[in-house]
Amino acid sequence: MLATRVTAILCLSGCLFAQDGALGDLPTTAAERDERMAWWREARFGMFIHWGVYSVPAGIHDGERVNGIGEWIMQRAKIPVVDYRSYAQRFNPVKYDADAWARLAKAAGMRYVVITSKHHDGFALFDSAVTDWDVVDATPYGKDLLRPLVEACKKHGLKIGFYYSQAQDWTHVGGSKRGYDDGDGWDPAHRGSFDEYLARIAQPQVREILTGYDIDLIWWDTPHLMTQERAEKLRPLLKLRPGILSNNRLVAGDKGDFSTPEQHIPATGLDSDWETCMTMNDTWGYKSYDGNWKSTETLVRNLVDAASKGGNYLLNVGPTALGEFPEPSVERLREIGRWMDTNGDSIYGTTASPFSNLSWGRCTKKVTDGSVTLYLHVFDWPTSGELRLIELRSEVVEAKLMATGDRLSVARGRDGLVINVPPTGPDPIDNVIVLKVRGELDVRRMLPRQDKAGVVTLLAAIGDLHTPPYAEPVSLMGSADKRFIGNWGDARNWVEWRFEVSSPGEFEVIADVATTASRPRISVSVSGHEIHTSLPDTGGERSYVEVKLGRITLKGNGTQTLAIKPKAEGWSPIALRRVTLRPVD
Ligand code: GLC
Repeated sequence: MLATRVTAILCLSGCLFAQDGALGDLPTTAAERDERMAWWREARFGMFIHWGVYSVPAGIHDGERVNGIGEWIMQRAKIPVVDYRSYAQRFNPVKYDADAWARLAKAAGMRYVVITSKHHDGFALFDSAVTDWDVVDATPYGKDLLRPLVEACKKHGLKIGFYYSQAQDWTHVGGSKRGYDDGDGWDPAHRGSFDEYLARIAQPQVREILTGYDIDLIWWDTPHLMTQERAEKLRPLLKLRPGILSNNRLVAGDKGDFSTPEQHIPATGLDSDWETCMTMNDTWGYKSYDGNWKSTETLVRNLVDAASKGGNYLLNVGPTALGEFPEPSVERLREIGRWMDTNGDSIYGTTASPFSNLSWGRCTKKVTDGSVTLYLHVFDWPTSGELRLIELRSEVVEAKLMATGDRLSVARGRDGLVINVPPTGPDPIDNVIVLKVRGELDVRRMLPRQDKAGVVTLLAAIGDLHTPPYAEPVSLMGSADKRFIGNWGDARNWVEWRFEVSSPGEFEVIADVATTASRPRISVSVSGHEIHTSLPDTGGERSYVEVKLGRITLKGNGTQTLAIKPKAEGWSPIALRRVTLRPVD
């Protein structure tokens, strides 16, 4: 509802800033922070919901498919404000059932939900007093979409957060637009001052959502044109809801309560709290023709991967304009839920793996009242009947298969701990073995080291894979001893290994690699040295050849790092099984 209360609201928010300290400072001590973060760290798994008017065109404007993520259709197709607004007349989500959404999130094992209260198109899913560009005023549906969801989440014991696009707003006058300067845009109707937009729309709306809804988290996004000074127009409002969490996207460089790697899981985790958000197909907002769904196996393993590195996984659903989750999302959520029903304890409240890379899968751990439980997530079940955990020194008091409760025997061999396992694991996606450890955790992290002949072997399975946001991720493929780093079409991906050197000297660097025709070029950097080389055509994606990349000299003992990075120009995908450093006589 666009009310005449606008001036009153502006005055109120003005007053708030005038007496900034009056609401008390945000908690700063480590203990207070831990307390605030407790539910979020316990949760590990949440649902992202991108929902708005963009679900009406659903990726098609004027009969043409528009490339890219669905909720960006207005910007990508440069749709004039008046035309985009007309889509709202067909936004009538009569099938929306907030309770069913919350139940499904819960059934999937998720512990929180984050929904777009306003995305970059400026459309609010709540009744905002400062605009008529909201669900109540601009659509035939005419009802607040957020309140029922907040209530349903509370009822089902889920935390609820609102995403709010504080900077980009492609409809209201002055909102920022990526690719455009302050004041500019593709339509005269939305050109204007960004500062005025902040004062007229963003500030009062943030106030509306913080005072009007019992939310636990606010999720800022794309801080285009935000500065520290502008951020201070919004940040103090958080005090209106003590204890609320916020992410790191209010302004570039902001830490927030947690960071937000997007569409990728950081190779080795991050030092502070973090949450990877990810789509199930290739779009956040609904697109009618995006059928590129990730498998349930990938989604479960992503969740496990994130948890094993100490992070949360926020998995997206893009509902339709009728208010339904796309069927493939529903199927996957139910399947993830089946896995979580059995194995959820290996995710909730866990912290990062204490081990370096595990070639067969991942590990999460839980420390309660000083006792340590390790959850071994076995993606590749050993056909040998023995699962090895070479770095664990602690005594194991109990080992069992989570799914069946069956006890497993353990033995200590020359290569560390051996867990005797049945010939096959019951779950094709991830079998969890629960290890209870006596006393404090004692782990000796073992990086690859030189063998008797001085050779260092860096296997695909233990490389750290780095993918920047929005790059198609390079990934570990194949199984058991046939693992390789593949899907390496995007040249921004790179791979890195750490290893121990005890006999320094000169080494030949050899890659076991398969390439397609075009002689891709790479750089190899090893502790300060760089080799730039091109790879020969090995005759196809899976025909491996040992290729000499060049020589390097390792001067000292200790931990060294080797990184392989593609050169973008002329890049074509390669598959990499192993890198070997062989001493030169
Ligand atoms: C991006 C996009 C946006 C999406 C968000 C999710 O920053 O601009 O459309 O909401 O990522 O993380």
